[in-house]
Amino acid sequence: MKINKISKIIAEIKVPADKSITHRAIMLSCLANGTSAVNNYLHSDDCLMTMNAFKAMGVDIVQTSSRLTIKGAGLNGLKKSPHSIYAGNSGTTTRLISGILAGQKFTTVINGDESLSKRPMKRVIEPLRLMNADITADKDNFLPMTIKETQGLKAIDYISNVASAQVKSCILLAGLYADGITSVTEPEKSRDHSERMLKAFGADIVEDNLKVSIKKCDRLFAQEVNVPSDISSAAFFIAAGLILKNSRIKILGVNINPTRDGIIEIIKNMGANIKFENIRNVSGEEVADIEISSSDLCGVNIDGKIMPRLVDEIPAIALCATQAEGTTVISGAKELRVKESDRLSAIATQLKKMGADIKETEDGLIIRGKTKLTGCRVDSFKDHRIAMMLSVAGLIAEGTTEIIDSSCVNISFSNFYDILKQVCS
Ligand code: S3P
Repeated sequence: MKINKISKIIAEIKVPADKSITHRAIMLSCLANGTSAVNNYLHSDDCLMTMNAFKAMGVDIVQTSSRLTIKGAGLNGLKKSPHSIYAGNSGTTTRLISGILAGQKFTTVINGDESLSKRPMKRVIEPLRLMNADITADKDNFLPMTIKETQGLKAIDYISNVASAQVKSCILLAGLYADGITSVTEPEKSRDHSERMLKAFGADIVEDNLKVSIKKCDRLFAQEVNVPSDISSAAFFIAAGLILKNSRIKILGVNINPTRDGIIEIIKNMGANIKFENIRNVSGEEVADIEISSSDLCGVNIDGKIMPRLVDEIPAIALCATQAEGTTVISGAKELRVKESDRLSAIATQLKKMGADIKETEDGLIIRGKTKLTGCRVDSFKDHRIAMMLSVAGLIAEGTTEIIDSSCVNISFSNFYDILKQVCS
């Protein structure tokens, strides 16, 4: 993809549905009794992996462009897949489905693409083994991973050393099958979409600050879920609106769940012009229309405590920091090294190529602004969020920015370039 500098954006847009919520809506609908509907689901490569996995386990999923109709198999109605489950690039598919598979009376093998095969799975293998699951994995940490038929799971009270919604959700989903009450405590609160949705589907789940507990469950009840737009996708247009001069972008129907809104807190601290309208509730999630206009930004400190609330938004925030007066210090972000790419390295090396003053540290970034960016050939490392960050950087960079492997935006935001073209014309 080649991107040229533009002068401004004035636009009203809608970005695609939330990826995390779509994965969970598909999974819980497949496990429920009755027919669920998932409206405005995310039609992207990652969510397709979750859908295909459940289709392979015998669930009837009817797909139109705006709605999934899912005839749930019930908690114990899944069938052995005739082939291994291919999770593609999707960590959420792999880690959440592992919790469900740990409770099944059949064996499943999960594999994935090159990037996913390098991402750590020990973080889910360890707690699942404590629950009695029988799991083997490459080097005990990587895909392919085999989850064997269970003799019955037992509840655990797990203290996790990583604030990860994928780990927490995996344990809670296994907890649906485990005798007793399964609890997981995190060092910081990660996104709570699983807790909200499990409650809506009828699970007995209790939250107490950083600890979440779930009781073994006989059945979940089918629901109609309306999926709001993804703040992690909105983040790239938020960044564009902030750093382009004379610009204003309104983004409709964005999920602003307080476990996901760290980017809003940070850009407000940076001096962003941001307005919220029409705040409402959509299927148990807070939603708003967000209006962003060009802003004179300043550098800020971002530490580990807020990281779970903005972990996927660091690329967009880092780009904003290159256009902010002063220094932005990001620390406590070592989780970014085990995402779809090593994002700390990808952000630092590629933005530096474009002229940013950016230093990579062991667990973060130090960015000095403001710097003029210049277009050149940059690599997405097949990471959707890096491709989108570089594309927005291209809008303010002198000349032409060429992004290698830009089609990876399909992982979470298939019409990213359509919307970008539309708002730039
Ligand atoms: C996700 C949790 C986060 C996030 C990912 C989606 C989820 O990962 O980065 O894009 O849907 O649970 P971690 O749980 O590894 O932090």
